[in-house]
Amino acid sequence: MKTRITEMFGIQHPIIQGGMHFVGLAELAAAVSNAGGLGTITGLTQKSAADLANEIARCRDMTDKPFAVNLTFLPTVTSPDYPGYVKAIIDGGVTVVETAGRNPIQVLPYLKDAGIKVIHKCTSVRHALKAQEIGCDAVSVDGFECGGHPGEDDIPNMILLPRAADELEIPFVSSGGQADARSLIASLAMGAEGMNMGTRFMATVEAPIHQNVKDAIVAASELDTRLIMRPLRNTERVLTNAAVERVLAIEAVKGTATQFEDIAADVAGVYPKVMVGGDMEAGAWSCGMVAGLIHDIPTCQQLINRIMTEAEQIIRGRLAGML
Ligand SMILES: Cc1cc2nc3c(=O)[nH]c(=O)nc-3n(C[C@H](O)[C@H](O)[C@H](O)COP(=O)(O)O)c2cc1C
Repeated sequence: MKTRITEMFGIQHPIIQGGMHFVGLAELAAAVSNAGGLGTITGLTQKSAADLANEIARCRDMTDKPFAVNLTFLPTVTSPDYPGYVKAIIDGGVTVVETAGRNPIQVLPYLKDAGIKVIHKCTSVRHALKAQEIGCDAVSVDGFECGGHPGEDDIPNMILLPRAADELEIPFVSSGGQADARSLIASLAMGAEGMNMGTRFMATVEAPIHQNVKDAIVAASELDTRLIMRPLRNTERVLTNAAVERVLAIEAVKGTATQFEDIAADVAGVYPKVMVGGDMEAGAWSCGMVAGLIHDIPTCQQLINRIMTEAEQIIRGRLAGML
C-alpha cells in the first residue's frame, strides 16, 4: 500500500509502532521495521544519551530498514538531557523522530537541519495545527481511546480524525484504538495516511516485556482501562489493578487538591517492575481500550501481514461489493 506516510518514511506498510516506555527497545523496533512497518525506540527509556546511542546501534544490527526514535516531553522529576539524545539520534543516522508531550520546538531545528523527518503525536486539532505551523512533517493524531496520555479534551478518533483531515495539510496517522485491518481501513477513510499502534504491539512475540503483561492484555476487555491523574491534568489511560483503584480512591477524596506525592507510590518507578519483573500489581501502567480487540500474541510479521492482507480483502471485497 502506498500513502503519503509510506513515501515520507520509506516504509512498505502504513503502520507505525508508537514509542512506549520500557517496551520500545531495539528488539521490538527492529521487528516492526523488518515486517515493513516503522518501529520506534523510546528515547527516555535509555538512561543517558550514550545508552540511547547504544540502543540505536543495537537496532541497526538487527534491521537495515528505517526506524524511529521517540522523544517525549512530559513533566518529569529531573529534566532529561535532550541535547544529548538529539545528538545520539543524529549521529546514529536515525531518519524519523516521533515527538510527543509538549511542542517539540526546542529540538526541531536540529532534527530538521540533519534531514530527519519529525512526526509529532498530539491529542487535539489545535496542537496538530501548531505542529504543522512550526514545521513538523507529519502528525500522529491520538484519540481519547489511546493507551498512555490522551490529553484533556476527550475526543475519540471517530470525530478527531475527520476534524484533523479538514484542517491539516501535512499527512497524519491515526493513533489510539487501532488494532487490525478494520482500524486501518477506517483510519484511511477518515483521512489518515496510516495508523500508529501501541498496546497492540505489546502483545507480540518480539515485544521485550514480561509474558504476564502480554497475557494481561489478551485477558483484558475494552472495559478494563481507567483514567488516572486527571486532577493533575496529566491524564493517563492505564489497565486497572489494585494500585490503580487506590489512586482513583485518593483522587476521588482529594479532587483538584491531589498532589503528585499523594499517588507517587503507585505511579512512579513502576515500569521496570511491570515490564521487566512481571509484577502486575506493582502500580499503574499505560494500556489502551483496544485491549478488548486483542486476542492473540503473534509475531510482528504475522500481525502486519494479517492486517495488510485483510485490509485488501475489505477494500476489494466488502467495500467494493457495496458499490
Ligand atoms: C505501555 C505504554 C507506554 C507508552 N509510553 C509512551 C511514551 O513513553 N511516549 C509516548 O510518546 N507515548 C507512549 N505511549 C503511547 C503510545 O506511543 C501510543 O500513542 C498509544 O499506545 C496509542 O494508543 P493504543 O495503545 O490504543 O494503540 C505508551 C503507550 C503504552 C501502552
